[in-house]
Amino acid sequence: MESLIVDEKIKKSRIPARLDLIQSGTGLILGLFMWVHMMLVGSIILGKDAFYFVAKFMELSFLHPTGEGYPAVVFFAVLGVFTLFIIHAALGVRKFPISWKQHAILRQQMGMMKHSDTNLWYVQVVTGFIMFFLGSVHLYVMLTHPGQIDPYLSANRVINHNMWPLYLVLLFAVEFHGTIGLYRLCMKWGWFAGKNPVESRKKLKRIKNRLAVFFLAVGLVALLVFSVIGIRHKDRVGEPYKPQAAVEKTLLVSNSSS
Ligand code: HEM
Repeated sequence: MESLIVDEKIKKSRIPARLDLIQSGTGLILGLFMWVHMMLVGSIILGKDAFYFVAKFMELSFLHPTGEGYPAVVFFAVLGVFTLFIIHAALGVRKFPISWKQHAILRQQMGMMKHSDTNLWYVQVVTGFIMFFLGSVHLYVMLTHPGQIDPYLSANRVINHNMWPLYLVLLFAVEFHGTIGLYRLCMKWGWFAGKNPVESRKKLKRIKNRLAVFFLAVGLVALLVFSVIGIRHKDRVGEPYKPQAAVEKTLLVSNSSS
């Protein structure tokens, strides 16, 4: 009773709600970024030239006098994503079960309730924890190698720098975490709520599952293509890629001069 009286005297703080809003906002931006990211990385499926074009485009090579591009643009983009990633993770930690006892109670209640959205929340916690480590490694590598994204250099990283196991686990963690996160955002803020909430929930879940399968498939095929390129290019580690058009131009010039 005494503690209730004390509680009533405490002014209600708006900070937790604001922190929730920031977590939702950063999650939304990161979730949408990951879809774009998967499509950009997935361009390797269309061929080495397609990926090279995308990588150079991201470096704003079309503004560069010699077409080389500006790696600093990639550096600042990664820095921005990394900052959002850290803010989002720091706010996410507030909701983790912080002791074995809390975790055991949570698991016990999940078993009793058998509520699918609560189970999704648990998947969110576990994948978030995995991403903490693996996402940070990947972002740090990208931050320190902004000018070294091309079909050969990326494939070298995948195979020779042994990044493929990390990418494989990270891919599953990101896709589950991202799609569940966006689904939960829709539920939480009532986006796409429709007239029949039960039907809308089912529909959103179906979309979530299809998106997860689609982006997982793109990621897995891209990883496979990078691995094949990396294995074939193993004897020339560090050699950057030259687009087909540039190779043909060089051949043409050397033929005409001889
Ligand atoms: C602006 C920031 C980012 C950039 C520039 C970037 C760039 C890249 C590039 C170029 C690759 C191809 C492999 C390589 O070159 O090493 C790649 C792969 C990958 N990235 Fe990122 N990335 C960024 C952020 C993230 C974030 C935040 C995550 C998730 C936490 C992530 C998850 C992955 C995964 C899972 C793969 C493997 C994809 C596959 O399976 O094909 N990336 N990224």
